[in-house]
Amino acid sequence: MHDDDSISNPLNGAEPLGEIINRRVSRRRLLEGGLVASAAMVVPGVSGCATQAAPGDADSGPSFQFDEIARGLDETHHVPEGYVTDVLVKWGDALFPNSPAFDPLNQTAASQARQFGYNCDFVGFLPLPSDGDERGLLCVNHEFTSTTLMLPDIAAGFPASITADVCAVEMAAHGGTVVEIEQRQGRWQVNLESPFNRRVFGHGTPMTYTGPAAGSPRLATASDPTGRTGHGTLNNCAGGITPWGTYLMAEENFHGYFQGTLDEAQAESANHARYGVPGGWFQWGRFYDDFNIDSEPNGPNRYGWVVEVDVLDPNSKPKKRTAMGRFKHEGAESVIAPDGRVVIYMGDDERFEYVYKFVTDRAYDASNREANLDLLDNGTLYVGRFAENGRLDWLPMRFGEGPLTPENGFASQADVVIETRRAADLLGATPMDRPEDVEAQPDTGRAYVMLTNNHLRTPENTNAANPRPMNAFGHIVEIINPNGDHAAETARWEVLLLCGDPSNPEVGSTWNPATTSDGWFGSPDNCAFDAQGRMWVATDGNIGSADGVWAIETDGPLRGTGKAFFRAPVGAEVCGPRFTPDGKTLFVAVQHPGAGERATFEAPTTRWPDFDPEVPPRPSVVAIYREDGGQIG
Ligand code: FEO
Ligand code: CA
Ligand code: CA
Ligand code: CA
Repeated sequence: MHDDDSISNPLNGAEPLGEIINRRVSRRRLLEGGLVASAAMVVPGVSGCATQAAPGDADSGPSFQFDEIARGLDETHHVPEGYVTDVLVKWGDALFPNSPAFDPLNQTAASQARQFGYNCDFVGFLPLPSDGDERGLLCVNHEFTSTTLMLPDIAAGFPASITADVCAVEMAAHGGTVVEIEQRQGRWQVNLESPFNRRVFGHGTPMTYTGPAAGSPRLATASDPTGRTGHGTLNNCAGGITPWGTYLMAEENFHGYFQGTLDEAQAESANHARYGVPGGWFQWGRFYDDFNIDSEPNGPNRYGWVVEVDVLDPNSKPKKRTAMGRFKHEGAESVIAPDGRVVIYMGDDERFEYVYKFVTDRAYDASNREANLDLLDNGTLYVGRFAENGRLDWLPMRFGEGPLTPENGFASQADVVIETRRAADLLGATPMDRPEDVEAQPDTGRAYVMLTNNHLRTPENTNAANPRPMNAFGHIVEIINPNGDHAAETARWEVLLLCGDPSNPEVGSTWNPATTSDGWFGSPDNCAFDAQGRMWVATDGNIGSADGVWAIETDGPLRGTGKAFFRAPVGAEVCGPRFTPDGKTLFVAVQHPGAGERATFEAPTTRWPDFDPEVPPRPSVVAIYREDGGQIG
């Protein structure tokens, strides 16, 4: 991601009152012998106290059979012996029969609009019915542009080199891509003729706001006085594919797209400050009022949502589902609760921010797709409080309940969702170490939270779920739901893993001793479960070696063992990852290859994947297969 050292939570990671009370209560109850100490309080990560059925049980030995790859850092990607890769789709590749050829020296907004976008992040796969070769839709987010690496002659004159034309290219390279892929002799390729292929843009794609904030005056701008009509989606990091086959694009670091000056007298200024607005990473505000808070103080309220795209209707308008809250949404993967309601886990990726989930009011109807298309407009948004005794409370964020009242400046549910972070502060949510992907394991009723890192955590503000000061390597928290019910309002939690180098005791990692010197990592970001329900984690900001994908044992005596599977080229983080339902293909997104402190279009750190001296590095989706056509892993 486009990282910086800023934090927006004025608590600065200090414990909210609710958490202190919680701790006191849990200590007392422990002293009274009323609770069994959870693994989180004893030896995090090696408890093995999960009770439900899961892959890799105690007798079955390792879940993964592949030959681990070595740590390292070089200009290309690596997979284990017996595996092959195809770079399936690259930035600038054609998506339509009339797409212009990729011409990196002369990129225009018009050509970019017909091509695969930049910095691929989320990868979704939706199988399509077929009576012949396998077909499916690949749904890929384009989180942001690394413009000094992407276009010529930008780096030296930045930011003056960012002209209106360059902004237009950036906007067209943001957003998302839906593209049909089909299998030929077991390998996927893009189908340019598919009627489903479409691009969604950072700016220039009509959208609709739905849910409680739709039509709020706080969303109104000159370009949309109704507060109901959007123009694009920004910084789409991870996301999700719903059970009814739509594509969710999570808007993450929207603050970076706004320029202007916070005016304390302006009604939205405190709200903006809580989100780090204006971030000023992009220059769009010089050319578009919508991205300048001096002219459009409501502009930022129009971003930070989850956007739903009905990919089976290529002409459908994407919908910003405001019921799911406004924050720096990392992902939005869903799971169906035992009673049929849909649960979507979500992280707010910033230091000292929170973990959320959304539970729909109505149940999913597997026999009627239409009946599900607006499920995400009605439901309950919850924020997580991870107590020291291993209890997780999901605090409902409902207008009129608890502190979410007019006395605290909330006049409606619209205000609650627009100011989700402030509402969560008041409820006493637990400030976490940058919550990224949160995903449910499909069979066990458990879910896993990737907490990427937080070097600003101090000894004074650690908590049991974020126990390490200067957390440079991140960790993974496991949520254990009662009776496997993801909709439950309370659960248990444990630390599955504290990441980092196990050979250095000062790091305090908790890898299973079966982990090799190649098998550990830092900065977990995205996770995925394969056809057998096994966990795989991709990193952003691994230390001492390239980012990549690791397989993780979650059960049995090997719980907490990592094993290295994929290594990215220098400069890149790894996103996706996504398995096909048969487990025979793993798609990974290689984001910002060639990046580096002084890297530019003219001097990148690698020219992956073309290795052509005339062509810059290209963010791409890679398809990984086993040579013998078997299941990955
Ligand atoms: Fe875009 Fe949270 O990584
Ligand atoms: Ca990240
Ligand atoms: Ca991410
Ligand atoms: Ca994921």
